[in-house]
Amino acid sequence: MNPLHEGLIQERVPEPHVMVIFGAGGDLSKRKLIPALYTLARERLLPGGFAMLGTANRDMDDKAFRQEMKESCDKFARRRPVDASLWKGFSNSLYYEQGNFGDPAFYQALKARLEAIRGKTGIPPNTLFYLSVPPSVFPMIVDNLRTAGLVTRGYSPWTRIIVEKPFGRDLESARTLNRELKQVFREMQIFRIDHYLGKETVQNMLALRFANGIFEPLWNSRYVSNVQITAAEPIGMEGRGSYFEEAGILRDMVQNHLFQVLCLTAMEPPVNIEAGAVRDEKVKLLHALRPIPPREMDKYVVRAHYQMGRVLGEAVPGYREEPGVAKNSITETFVALKLYIDNWRWGNVPFFLRTAKRMPKKVTEISILFRQAPHSMFGNNGGRPPAPNMLSIRIQPDEGISLHFGSKVPGPSMEIAPVSMEFRYGTSFGQEPPEAYERLILDAMLGDGTLFIRDDETEASWKFISQIHEVWKKQRKKSIPLYHAGTWGPEEANKLMSGTDMTWRNP
Ligand code: BG6
Repeated sequence: MNPLHEGLIQERVPEPHVMVIFGAGGDLSKRKLIPALYTLARERLLPGGFAMLGTANRDMDDKAFRQEMKESCDKFARRRPVDASLWKGFSNSLYYEQGNFGDPAFYQALKARLEAIRGKTGIPPNTLFYLSVPPSVFPMIVDNLRTAGLVTRGYSPWTRIIVEKPFGRDLESARTLNRELKQVFREMQIFRIDHYLGKETVQNMLALRFANGIFEPLWNSRYVSNVQITAAEPIGMEGRGSYFEEAGILRDMVQNHLFQVLCLTAMEPPVNIEAGAVRDEKVKLLHALRPIPPREMDKYVVRAHYQMGRVLGEAVPGYREEPGVAKNSITETFVALKLYIDNWRWGNVPFFLRTAKRMPKKVTEISILFRQAPHSMFGNNGGRPPAPNMLSIRIQPDEGISLHFGSKVPGPSMEIAPVSMEFRYGTSFGQEPPEAYERLILDAMLGDGTLFIRDDETEASWKFISQIHEVWKKQRKKSIPLYHAGTWGPEEANKLMSGTDMTWRNP
């Protein structure tokens, strides 16, 4: 089969290749990439001929690199500590090459090293590059790879490249990055990662909607009153203050993860489950997002940052007190948006998206709230509207789905109370879901781009996000709303729903 063929590939064993990780000494590599590779090896999903060549600035030999990677796997692999005999075999396929990514001589050394590894192992010249480095150095690396003759645009042997987020910081920079990457690679060779797409529960949105007959007839403005997507985290900056100052949570979480979740929740059914078809539908959805009138921005988007408070029983400082954060910062650690999707299915249904640091707990959840029954015959429920029917899809933790509806309370009166039907991954399948990076790395090895972001998708989502940043810049605010760490956000977020009977659902 053509290794660059788009779409779901049934035979899930990649062809022999060498994977080269740029930034192999970094946090992502230690916490996610190497443990994911180890798990793939443990589950016999790596090809017979496989090697991983890590590169970074630090001076180290293969032996020291292998030892460091073992420590990472002992700490972060799904099954810990690592199995000694398995590790022995796996670690023999790990190599390290020190180098300065700006120096053309490094790429010659890299080339020689790759040839040596191939000579020793018999692995054909298929190469998967992984850029786990800041986006500002992507163009430099890609250009040097081309000059050194390390990229082939053909099908066999093949070269592919995985690029980490953030993919640009606005529409302009995303376009430039796409242009630069595509001077060297064809689109089908580029795998822009969003680890939310690697989550089982996010992929299950496709199964829930399109493998079942009962939900899709209700999945539209006739039956749905509003949709809420919340991604809450109790953590603060954890040493990422200076990155966050530049990014803000709108860039960090919404442009990528929340928009991907929104796309899978709201897009039209694709004609099939292949990369092209799924990504076409996501792009259509992003294009249908109603632009926000600049003057009304604050009615649709609320930003805030946390002040000191208590999270999970612990006193924590405010955002402006975090290391790397300016004392007069107006960077947002909370954002809530009211969005409309201007298409036939979703006409005038509000989609509320919300994400923040220092919330009461870690939870990502999609809630589909349904309209009330057209006629209420069970009294007036003490003057309150009955709780709406709701389908909650829990992305993490306690992965599962619950359907909430009203039921008669046992007894002589016709009192209605909310109850729920539950599905939990743990109980139904009796196994932990794989780590997002395991699935995504494997898919890139297979050349399957379904769970990666296409160039037009990144640009469509940045187009929407950049209009918000442009208005914020012009507003020149000196301060933004505050919320206490450990709460569900500022009062202002409730105003997004004023004039309706909707309220935020705090999972
Ligand atoms: C990352 C963001 O992309 O996603 C982080 O940069 C965030 O700020 C993280 O904490 C959340 O990922 P997850 O998988 O823990 O929900």
